[in-house]
Amino acid sequence: MSDAAFPPGFVFGAATSAYQIEGGHDADGKGPSVWDHFVRWPGRVHHGHTGDVAADTYRDFQTDVAIMGQLGLDAYRFSVSWPRVLPAGRGAVNARGLDYYDRLVDALLAAGIAPFVTLFHWDLPQALQETMGGFAGRDCAALFADYAEVVARRLGDRVGHWITLNEPWVYAVLGHLRGTHAPGRRNPWAFLRVVHHQLLGHGLAVPRLRALSPAARVGLSLNLSPIYPAANNDADRAAARLADQAVNRLFLDPLCHGRYPEPLWARLRPFRPPVGPGDMATIAAPLDFVGVNYYTRARVRRAWYVPFLGLWPEGLPGMMPDEGGGRVANPPTSGMGWEVYPAGLFELLWRLKTEYGNPPVYVTENGAAYPDVLSDDGRVHDEARRVYLEQHLAVVAAAIRAGVDARGYFVWSLVDNFEWTYGYDKRFGIVYVDYATQRRVIKDSGLWYSEFIRNAQVGGR
Ligand code: FCB
Repeated sequence: MSDAAFPPGFVFGAATSAYQIEGGHDADGKGPSVWDHFVRWPGRVHHGHTGDVAADTYRDFQTDVAIMGQLGLDAYRFSVSWPRVLPAGRGAVNARGLDYYDRLVDALLAAGIAPFVTLFHWDLPQALQETMGGFAGRDCAALFADYAEVVARRLGDRVGHWITLNEPWVYAVLGHLRGTHAPGRRNPWAFLRVVHHQLLGHGLAVPRLRALSPAARVGLSLNLSPIYPAANNDADRAAARLADQAVNRLFLDPLCHGRYPEPLWARLRPFRPPVGPGDMATIAAPLDFVGVNYYTRARVRRAWYVPFLGLWPEGLPGMMPDEGGGRVANPPTSGMGWEVYPAGLFELLWRLKTEYGNPPVYVTENGAAYPDVLSDDGRVHDEARRVYLEQHLAVVAAAIRAGVDARGYFVWSLVDNFEWTYGYDKRFGIVYVDYATQRRVIKDSGLWYSEFIRNAQVGGR
């Protein structure tokens, strides 16, 4: 593959999120988030791990900024912790919390790294969970837009890219239907409200971000997965179409076409929240880009949707499409057990081009966990991750050649971090973190990525 396939201005970056790396969970006036709360419920997170300290970047972000400079990254995607800025979710601003992000943005810019700022990466202020059920409450949408405005007033003169929401599907489904993520609910009414109110919050925030940060581009990041029938029969094909609506189109369609996908939406009638007269137009506020988080594909069979749509509540825990789906004989998998399937990324990018009007796209997350070890030579030889990244970058280049408007690519993740219910057991970083000392070691994949970026620049970016 020729690196020159990447157009001028294409950005190569890495991504993280606040709860997964910052630590400082109660430092300097920060309020608790739903994740601070959830990790303390017995048995919810692997070995009872918490994000209390994580990768310690609230105390020291300079080290990682220096590493990014050394790697030659063009951009860094990080998230702002809502309860660090607004401890109660609304009202009084915690100046020290906002100062932290102000210093981080300045440090990045001084190192020539463009900040891509996510506003909601699942760490909702616990106070809002308690007073209104979080995003299950309609008022939370307006409060999210208020919070976005607080952040944009401070950082909007320097931030070029805003990502309102990260993976609203995961927050809604894992957090409110399966109960495996914070806030740990299992309630289909809450789940659909959380879908709609997150989208509404996004739509309300977009014009306010544009007003305060006129030069910036505004988008959001969706977890998208191509969905295949487990077997080549009518029932599985129908299940795959419905699962595609429940995972991909549930967000893409309202955002890009101003309506929820049918027949899914009709079938969800018993669980649907009230949709106000202007809601769909608000949600469909024009986007400057779509962020795609891609890890793997899913395969589903008929049994997947019957429990959810027909036999609730017994079937609720079977919501994830890859559960109960057919298995390919020995597919390559990452340390998460996820199939490594680079072609799926091409399929998604192509679909955005052909079905959603070819919007500018950033791959805002892509990467893999593997059981990394620090070798005696002081290095981390993560060849499998290098191959994973190389294959997916080749797909992005191929998609660009095919006319997809891809503008950038972010590895998940810059550093090893708190991987939600897996705690520190799963390592996604291109930089290894020794949690006992917080020492960083750039993994072989990180060194390779750095070289790749350098070559892409020589190749004419
Ligand atoms: C995504 C999340 C991110 C990280 C990766 C592995 O779903 O956005 O925080 O956990 O998966």
